[in-house]
Amino acid sequence: MKYKIIRGFHDILPGQIERWHFIENTARQVFESYGFNELRIPVLESTDIYCTGIGDTTDIVEKEMYSFDDRDGSSLTLRPEGTAGVVRSFIENSFYKKTPVSKFYYMGPMFRHERPQKGRYRGFNQIGCEYFGSQSAAADAEIILMLWYFFQKIGFTDSVKIEINSIGDEESRENYKTALVNYLTPLKEGLCDQCNRKLGTNPLRILDCKNESCREITVNAPKITDYLSEASGVHFNKLIQILDDLSVPYNVNDKIVRGLDYYTETVFEFTTDKLGSQNAIAAGGRYNNLVEKMGGPPTPATGFALGLERIVLLHEQLSDKEFKFPTDVYIAWIGEDTFIPAMKIATELRNNGKSVYIEHESKSIKSQLKRANKLDAGYTLIIGEEELKSGRIIVRNMKKSSEESIGIEDTGSLLSYIN
Ligand code: HAM
Repeated sequence: MKYKIIRGFHDILPGQIERWHFIENTARQVFESYGFNELRIPVLESTDIYCTGIGDTTDIVEKEMYSFDDRDGSSLTLRPEGTAGVVRSFIENSFYKKTPVSKFYYMGPMFRHERPQKGRYRGFNQIGCEYFGSQSAAADAEIILMLWYFFQKIGFTDSVKIEINSIGDEESRENYKTALVNYLTPLKEGLCDQCNRKLGTNPLRILDCKNESCREITVNAPKITDYLSEASGVHFNKLIQILDDLSVPYNVNDKIVRGLDYYTETVFEFTTDKLGSQNAIAAGGRYNNLVEKMGGPPTPATGFALGLERIVLLHEQLSDKEFKFPTDVYIAWIGEDTFIPAMKIATELRNNGKSVYIEHESKSIKSQLKRANKLDAGYTLIIGEEELKSGRIIVRNMKKSSEESIGIEDTGSLLSYIN
């Protein structure tokens, strides 16, 4: 084959896309019911937005970005995630002047040059939410509740766990980093090469290394929740209290530290044990310093993104519901003169929201009815020379095997019969 899709990228085909639509539409409906509005940002931004936003020493910025020089020599990057771009837009459009809080959702493709495997791609899709302007743990609790409710709605009731943690404010993190480095330094020979490097740059990330020997070492590492400042402790306890009061189930997992540098205080992941190692289907947390760091006024914020490919994979495992693009009406026509009247009826029905299938080549009635069956059409409508002469057509209800004769131009009766 001469042309092939790039490694780590994938097409979403008809037959698959219906499930995507179901998940995307449910997300829109749920997120809008919580007051989030859609924000569309470009897939291409200045590289420095991601370096500043995500952090220079993160895996994403160090080795996963698709960056290239524009014609004027400036560096551009295909977005590896949505938060940094949304913050750029929040500041550039002065949303902070317009309303005390701003709540956005976004969806679309993201790009990371990772090693592809099941559930991990180089081109993948996220739906994210970002909530600006609230310092309260109640805002964190509400987005966790909203995600939980979304997963219930798409049928993931028993397959998803919520893992939460706090990485505290800057003061908490600095104290914790010192304790962690002190604990790990004498054990560093047992750490993998990457973790040895992270010991000097980003020691918290050693906690979520998947390598077995690193895991054994970090099991007994000091816990960040023991190093939280008073304010961070209060924030985290309030979050836990609200989740308890709202009966949202969760585990506190002190190994959740997240791979992006902007987080402060609350971090969380929604995980499943049904997808192998790529077990996080959504993740996020609070980022109180990012807006200011990117040039805006100090603005607390919290948010998350869910991974659509992983959610679709899990949905395929859990739901035997068939997702098909429906054909409401199949119009069979026999004889050249019947094509235009058939097209007119098709147009009327389509203008009234019905999906209609009609052939464009002359075919036998047998092959047309075969096709109608294959498409699982709800109704079949037949127009031949006879019908044209009499001015009446036969409309067949394929599920009930009943039929009705209706005037060719009587769209009203036709619509009420097939509704
Ligand atoms: P993230 O953890 O990097 O966070 O990504 C969020 C979700 O996107 C993951 O839990 C996973 O489901 C999916 N995902 C990430 N990388 C891949 C990949 N290579 N292939 C398939 N799915 C993937 C963020 O992106 C943050 N911006 C989330 C956030 C928003 N935090 C605050 N606001």
